[in-house]
Amino acid sequence: MPDTSQQRHAVLAKEILRHDQAYYVEAQPAVSDQEYDRLYRELLALEAVHPELRTPDSPSQRVGGEPIDGFETIRHTVPMMSLDNTYSQEEVREFVDRVQKLLPGELLEWFVEPKADGIAIGLRFEYGLFTSGITRGDGIAGDDVTANLRTVRSIPLRLNELGQADTPEVLEVRGEVVMTRSGFEKLNHERADAGEPLFANPRNATAGSLKQLDSALVAKRPLDIVLYGSGEIVGGPAIDSQSDLLDVLGQVGFRTPQNTWRCSSVDEVLDAIDELDRVRGGFDYDTDGAVIKLNSFSQRERIGATAKAPRWAMAYKYAPEQAQTRLNAITVQVGRTGTLTPVAELEPVFLDGSTISRATLHNEEEIARKDIRVGDTVIIEKRGDVIPGLIGVVKEERPAGAEPFEMQSATGSRCPECDGEIRKDESFVAWRCINTQCPAQAAQRLEHFAARTALDIECLGDIVSDKLVERGLASEPLDLFSLSVEQLGPLNLGTDDEPRVFGEKNATKLVESLALARGMGLDRWLFALAIPEMGRTTASSLAKFHDNLQAVAGSPLLCEVIALDEKVAETVRINPRSRKNRPNSDIDKAGRERLYTSLVSEIRDSLGRLESLCFAKITKENGDHPPNYTTEVGPSVARSVLDWFASETGCATLECLAKLGIDPQGGRPSGGGVFAGKRFVITGTLPTMSRDEAKEKIEANGGKTTGSISNKTDYLLAGEQAGLKLAKAKSLGVTILDEVKFLKRIGE
Ligand code: IVH
Repeated sequence: MPDTSQQRHAVLAKEILRHDQAYYVEAQPAVSDQEYDRLYRELLALEAVHPELRTPDSPSQRVGGEPIDGFETIRHTVPMMSLDNTYSQEEVREFVDRVQKLLPGELLEWFVEPKADGIAIGLRFEYGLFTSGITRGDGIAGDDVTANLRTVRSIPLRLNELGQADTPEVLEVRGEVVMTRSGFEKLNHERADAGEPLFANPRNATAGSLKQLDSALVAKRPLDIVLYGSGEIVGGPAIDSQSDLLDVLGQVGFRTPQNTWRCSSVDEVLDAIDELDRVRGGFDYDTDGAVIKLNSFSQRERIGATAKAPRWAMAYKYAPEQAQTRLNAITVQVGRTGTLTPVAELEPVFLDGSTISRATLHNEEEIARKDIRVGDTVIIEKRGDVIPGLIGVVKEERPAGAEPFEMQSATGSRCPECDGEIRKDESFVAWRCINTQCPAQAAQRLEHFAARTALDIECLGDIVSDKLVERGLASEPLDLFSLSVEQLGPLNLGTDDEPRVFGEKNATKLVESLALARGMGLDRWLFALAIPEMGRTTASSLAKFHDNLQAVAGSPLLCEVIALDEKVAETVRINPRSRKNRPNSDIDKAGRERLYTSLVSEIRDSLGRLESLCFAKITKENGDHPPNYTTEVGPSVARSVLDWFASETGCATLECLAKLGIDPQGGRPSGGGVFAGKRFVITGTLPTMSRDEAKEKIEANGGKTTGSISNKTDYLLAGEQAGLKLAKAKSLGVTILDEVKFLKRIGE
């Protein structure tokens, strides 16, 4: 590579980073958008020719990279604790008194900061280079979301050098990732236009964005960071207080909160809290309180922390905001599983930083309980990450003639999405659309089919599923097998005005994973087909006992479970010794006794057969009454499975699978396996398997998994970041297997 290319790249990178800082950190753009784009395009062109210039701190790394399969869990070098919080000013006084008692006679300086309402993260810089970003997780370990955080423009990829002092060898800064309010409104508008579900608030949108596996998508989300603390620090300038910390963070290139207060008495603290409440509505990010902390780090160290929170800080939370507005209409939304949810359409009202025009009403009973009627003046409230809730009605302002809400009259007893029949099951409060062809449900089935624990189809999430249904490309999972890369590549996931194509690369991945799915086992397929009541465990046990789908469809075992259940029900009904059934005459009694005895003996025979096949187990003998028992699959699931296979959908599915040449295979019960009867606990992150996959393998080899270690545990399957469980297993002498040893044992 010519030196000049390298030099030019360095000049461009520096220039772009300087402009990023001016724009995103200092809010004072130094060049026009066109000039910025020109520099950026030149940088990309150079990197295209010389890929080695694409270093982790190059501005090109802001646009995100390849999608990943999942996040790694990483341990925090210094645990990320939480804060004690209160809504009461009196408790703030008590807190200040408490700290003063712990530091008798010392002068205390308090630092009051906004409490940002986002997602806590730690950012690690090594020798100035941004190396990792981890979510709080459980405080001990969190998700590695580095790739996603690289796209946040206000996070420097390399720290500015400090004038006098050296750049720290390690600097971990902590803060909240937030979504700007303005960006959030825009994002939700775009989602509404694209028919995508809206985020309830900026915090949820932030959490959703950080969880994205595709950082290129995150790059398009208006994320920002608000810093407030530090984790591990090695080397660099002396940082002795919160004010020092924020100064240094400002110097190395972060934006630091503008509104902070240094206070020397509790009254000043309370004034600062009030003032913050007055100004925070103007911030471009959500806040839900003030954090009061000791400024001095040495004083902090001396008073330390309780098990969960530091003694030197406290969060004061502002009371959630409420607003009153008019309920213009109640519309009905169809959820992905067919559930009908009433939604309040409100006269738009500004509440806690954003405009609210909808609120969920949960279900018909909830509306009746709160007596909510169209035309009412209603009180809405936003609290934390809860979707704005409608908490009550101002009855005095109810207009004459306002009618109570009824789902049936509101919908004309038809599904608003597909005009299909709606029904309300006895045991549920919700109405459901029972049309299996309903587009809202079709999309849900595609997504389920693709889930990791089902057939693990890549690039088929909720948005793609919705679009495939909407564009008429697929309404049933098996339709996917007739789609080609050419058909899928141009699929528009965005809107007509702002198209976002699925792309050939993603389409290829999808098609390739479908090809892999063809060879997956019967258990995965049984689960993937979205058969009512078929969970992962049922699918696994059915797959153990049946060779293929046809065998499940006509399963003698399932028929026997149902027959058994019916016989037991019959014995209850006719039991001559039960007070309720007492027969009227002796003849009647003798007949019943005979019938009863013969039913009990049929039940025993049947159970004997099922027991010898390991499909049932008698749990309690009851003399000459039917014994208590359990079966691998219960009668209600058995009915649901057989019904589905006999239904039009089930028959069509089997026929279609046969045409596609797909014939998933099950395995006979081995009754043995290398881990027969052994108890496993799984902990930590396994290098190549998910926990579900490990569990499956354990069960396929005769073992069982449980949640916690005891002296009954035989093996601990331990991945990376195995914490307490590993220590406990060692102390109890439990055999510890890593993934490699485990796979070796099962011959994989
Ligand atoms: S100090 C040892 N300062 O609020 C924990 N936290 O409810 C020190 N938060 O876990 C945290 N703004 O995620 C601190 N200015 C601020 C904050 C802040 C938001 C978050 C943080 C914390 C949570 C507690």
